[in-house]
Amino acid sequence: MATAWNINQVREDFPILSQKLENGSPVVFLDSAASAQKPTAVYQKEQEIYTTHYANAYRGVYEFGAQIDEELEASRETVREFLNAASTNEIIFTSGTTMSLNMVAQAWGRKFLKKGDEILLTEMEHHANIVPWQLVAAETGAKLQYLPITDEGLLDLDRLSELLNERTKVLSVTAMSNMLGTINPLEVLSKAAKSVGAKFVVDAAQFVPHGPIDVQALEIDFLAFSGHKIFGATGIGILYGREALLEEMPPFLGGGHMISEVHRDYSTWAELPAKFEAGTIPIAEAISLGTALNYVNHLGWEILHHHEQTLAAYAWEQLQTVPGVKIYGPGLEERGAIFSFTMEGAHPEDIAQLLNRKGVFVRHGHHCTMLLHERLGISASVRASFAMYNTLEEVDALIAALHFTREKLRLNR
Ligand code: ALA
Repeated sequence: MATAWNINQVREDFPILSQKLENGSPVVFLDSAASAQKPTAVYQKEQEIYTTHYANAYRGVYEFGAQIDEELEASRETVREFLNAASTNEIIFTSGTTMSLNMVAQAWGRKFLKKGDEILLTEMEHHANIVPWQLVAAETGAKLQYLPITDEGLLDLDRLSELLNERTKVLSVTAMSNMLGTINPLEVLSKAAKSVGAKFVVDAAQFVPHGPIDVQALEIDFLAFSGHKIFGATGIGILYGREALLEEMPPFLGGGHMISEVHRDYSTWAELPAKFEAGTIPIAEAISLGTALNYVNHLGWEILHHHEQTLAAYAWEQLQTVPGVKIYGPGLEERGAIFSFTMEGAHPEDIAQLLNRKGVFVRHGHHCTMLLHERLGISASVRASFAMYNTLEEVDALIAALHFTREKLRLNR
C-alpha cells in the first residue's frame, strides 16, 4: 500500500492528462464521472492479451484458452474481494451498469413482481435506475414510487417510513448521485428495505471509484457498476447478486455459454455465474477490470479518498467565490468530488464551450437525471467531476476559466 500520495507519479500513469491544446492550455479533465481515464497498466494488459495469448473464454482446453480462463477467474476474484461478496458465483460480467440493472429488473422483476407491488426509487436516480423499472412496471402492473430529496439534495429519510411498506418489493438507490455528488446512507436504506422484506438494489456506478462497498455488511441483494468509471475499459460491468436470488431467477439472455443442455423444445442452464453470461463476454476488458482494481488497491483506497476529499474541499470553497455560481447538492460532509452548478446569466452549454477553450473539460446538460433537474427547477447544469489524478492547480484552472467565461459573456458589466 502506498504511504504517501505522489500525484506526479499517479499522473505519469495517465499520459493522456499531460497534453496541451493547440492554444497551449493544459488539458484539465474534469469529467471522470462520465468516464474515467485509464492507467497505462490497463491497456498494456489488454495489449499483452491480444499480442500473446488471446482466445475465446471458457471454451478452449488449449494453452491460450486455459490462460484466458485463469485470468478471467483471477479478475472475478478481485471484484469479489472489492465487494466482499461471499462467492465468485455472485459476480456476473455484464456490459455495464445499465445492462446489470436491466438484468435485475427483467430477470428478477418479471418473475417476482405483480400488480399491487411497489418499486421504490429516489428522485436522484440516473435514468439507468429508472427506465428499466418503468419497463418492468408496465409489464407486471407494479407501481413506481419515488423517495423525494430535500432542498439540500439529500434523500428525505423522513418520508421513508411512509413510502416503504409491505407492498414495496424493491428499493433501488444510487450509492452516490452522479449530479449532486450526494453519498447516500446505504446502511439506513438497507435496514429500512429489509424491515419490510424488500430487495435492496444499489446502483454503485458513481460510488465505486471512491472506495469498496461491502455487500455482505450492507445486506445488498443486487449491486451494479461499470468498469469504465473505475479506471477500467468500456463495455465491461458487474452485476453482483446474492447467490440464492440468482439461483431462483431465470436467465436474462439466451445463447452460448449460459446453457447446460439444449434440446429441441427446452434447454437447461449452466451453473452460476455462467447462467447470466450468454455469448462471448468482453474478454480483455473483463481481465483488465481486475488490473484497474489492483492498480487502485495498490495505491491505497484510504489515501485516494483523502486526496479526493482535499480536492472536493478546495473546489467547494473556490467555486463559491465565482459570482453567480450556484452549486447543487449537500455540503462536504455528505458529498464526493462531483460539483454540478449553474451560473446566473449563462447557459450551461455556453459555459462548457468557453471552459473548453481554456482546456477545462466538463459535462453539461441533464447528466441522465431529468427527474432530478426537474425537481431542482432547472433544465441543465454544468458538472465538474474530480478523480484521483486531478490536482489543486486544476481547481484553480477551472476557477480561472469560469472568470474567463464571465468576461466573454459580459457578465461582469
Ligand atoms: N452516467 C454517466 C454520467 O453521469 C455517463 O455522466
